[in-house]
Amino acid sequence: MRDPSRLRDDFPTLSRRRWDGKPLIYFDNAATSLKPRQVIDAVRRYYEDYSANVHRGVYALSQEATELYEESRAEVASFIGCKPSELVFVKNTTEGINLVAYGIKWRPGDGIVSSVMEHHSNMIPWQIVSRRFGLRLSYAEISPPGRVDLESLEEKITENTRLVAICHVSNVLGTMNDVKRIARLAHDHGSLVLVDAAQSVPHMPVNVRDLECDFLTFSGHKLLGPTGIGCLYIREGIEEELDPPFGGGEMIVHVELDGYRLNEMPWRFEPGTPNIAGAIGLAEAVRYLKSVGMDWIREHERMLTARALEILEGLECVEVYGPRNPEERCGIVSFNLRGVSGDLVAALLDEYGNIAVRSGYHCAQPLHKILGIQSSVRASFYLYNTMEELDVFEEVLSRICRELMKES
Ligand code: ALA
Repeated sequence: MRDPSRLRDDFPTLSRRRWDGKPLIYFDNAATSLKPRQVIDAVRRYYEDYSANVHRGVYALSQEATELYEESRAEVASFIGCKPSELVFVKNTTEGINLVAYGIKWRPGDGIVSSVMEHHSNMIPWQIVSRRFGLRLSYAEISPPGRVDLESLEEKITENTRLVAICHVSNVLGTMNDVKRIARLAHDHGSLVLVDAAQSVPHMPVNVRDLECDFLTFSGHKLLGPTGIGCLYIREGIEEELDPPFGGGEMIVHVELDGYRLNEMPWRFEPGTPNIAGAIGLAEAVRYLKSVGMDWIREHERMLTARALEILEGLECVEVYGPRNPEERCGIVSFNLRGVSGDLVAALLDEYGNIAVRSGYHCAQPLHKILGIQSSVRASFYLYNTMEELDVFEEVLSRICRELMKES
């Protein structure tokens, strides 16, 4: 196991100092993670040493690139407990969801059930295909402290429901949905289940067989990997429910002027030259995470979250959203200073403390409306964050509270 106390040395961005000497405190991990040197080196090695196309050449360099690309797939597949043939490389979570949305051979009257807590990636594609193909889209409600309400979900699922699309972890509240129960509920009604795992796969052990889902998608850049690479798991046997929405080279085994025969899984959903460097970088990120241990990461983030909640609850002017119990969340905490815009708080955290947090509605506008707010400030943690950074966060946020409350 990699020594967690030395993890930070692996992340070049963390060694940067601002003009005033303050180190960066990076609490925007739900948006994207920092990248370790090992991942950066793996991407560089591909471009420097064996930068050839894959699946297209009999010469040695192309064979080497192909081997590395397919080994990367196997590495990432083992990380989520599936076969390499079930793992399609896509651009990101959004593309994974869109691939399913445009790929399913919809029948008129089919229904889709999602939830009000989804981020826009797991909402807009369903709205678009519902309009285009005449589908019925409905949303399950949430119940306190911010999880999909299973009774509401059950009410929405009908015999016509073709797909249930739910996030594993909320990107605003950090709450975890019981996707295994949701999958069983959906399957009892003959529906397929898609899990948006953008905020779970980077932070906890996730196994697609345990979750019993049909599709699961996540982005590489949130789990120490490069941008522009992500994964879509398609359970073996259900690929025939989809028509590849994009065509091109590599996704076929035979072409005539008036037709084609599809390639096997997973290549039938990967037309054109793929993001080879991205896949290789993602596999390196997965190796890195495996060496640290996903259980350790989950526990480390739980401790950071508990401390963050303690700090926020200790400040009278702060309102926190979601459950108070750190056991019930991942390392994501959204809050507001009463009556103060989230952007102002985020700008002051940056100015006074070199602390990076996200403000706004975090691509989840309907959820913010349900919470009765326009926006929020979100702090989100990862394996390289420390308790000492949270001490600085407490100091700086207390100063912001004092200054802004004095003015009002
Ligand atoms: N959906 C990502 C976030 O929550 C980008 O920040």
